Amino acid sequence: MSGDTPKSPVPPAGPGGSGERDDWRTTFRPDIPSSARIYDYFLGGKDNYPADREAARTITTHLPNIREAARINRAFVRRAVRYLVNEAGITQLIDIGTGLPTMGNVHEVALDANPAARVVYIDHDPVVLAHARNMLQGTASAVILGHDMRAPADILADRELRRLVNFDEPVGVLFVSVLHFLSDADDPAAIIGELLAPFPAGSHVALTHGTADAAPEVNAAARVYQAATTPMYVRSRPEVLALVPGLELVEPGLVWTPEWHPEPGEHPPDHPSDSYYYALVARKS
Ligand SMILES: C[S@@+](CC[C@H](N)C(=O)[O-])C[C@H]1O[C@@H](n2cnc3c(N)ncnc32)[C@H](O)[C@@H]1O
Repeated sequence: MSGDTPKSPVPPAGPGGSGERDDWRTTFRPDIPSSARIYDYFLGGKDNYPADREAARTITTHLPNIREAARINRAFVRRAVRYLVNEAGITQLIDIGTGLPTMGNVHEVALDANPAARVVYIDHDPVVLAHARNMLQGTASAVILGHDMRAPADILADRELRRLVNFDEPVGVLFVSVLHFLSDADDPAAIIGELLAPFPAGSHVALTHGTADAAPEVNAAARVYQAATTPMYVRSRPEVLALVPGLELVEPGLVWTPEWHPEPGEHPPDHPSDSYYYALVARKS
């Protein structure tokens, strides 16, 4: 894994973690910056608190383009969902690491492309779950479920997921700006493989992933997350490619996020690496 990741100054949060801060999943803890709320701040959202904004401002001192990078990441979500529904013919999506509701949520884009689409959102942040449940009231074809992505068997066994997802049909699984919250010890490639395993050929994965390949300052920004709900682990290009072994990369392969299938007439920026994220879509054959 690239980037130096110092020891956390606080006990690690996470399943099996014994840290006193682990209660952020069950107790509202606005004092602990959350990856979801920091990202919401970058996107200009309102569901963030002083601790999130302070962390976000520190990240911005290292990465002046981070707000634009977050918008570029969200634009990828929209293009990838349209590709999966319109080009790959997929009607069921699982969005791992949903984030707080924003403009152009996955189910809105998917349903606009195909009214028969179904979307299952997965996140472990209670603030995300509360806001997303509110957003999805009255939407029968989408649901948000509280799971940690490090427990893929629990995700696949969830009765609500099984109500919306047909295991005999290809699925599109989104891991957008979320896999860098898994350490190598969490084995993200195995988690992706386990989530795709029950689904047939034609299933797809779409992901973006933070990297310090073009901007070493990303390492300093990632260190801010040591005091947040989830540490961050940026990866190099070969490390990101190694997350999808055995899958076939959709053209143009792994690229900077704004370079992946830009909208017709849209030109990628002069410095696409200022997006700080790699993007890829890959197909199970
Ligand atoms: C930066 S946001 C990305 C949101 C959205 N996917 C996007 O790209 O616009 C990361 C999200 O992943 C969630 N997340 C982080 N680690 C997770 C885990 N282990 N299990 C489930 N969700 C997780 C966070 O709560 C947060 O909502």
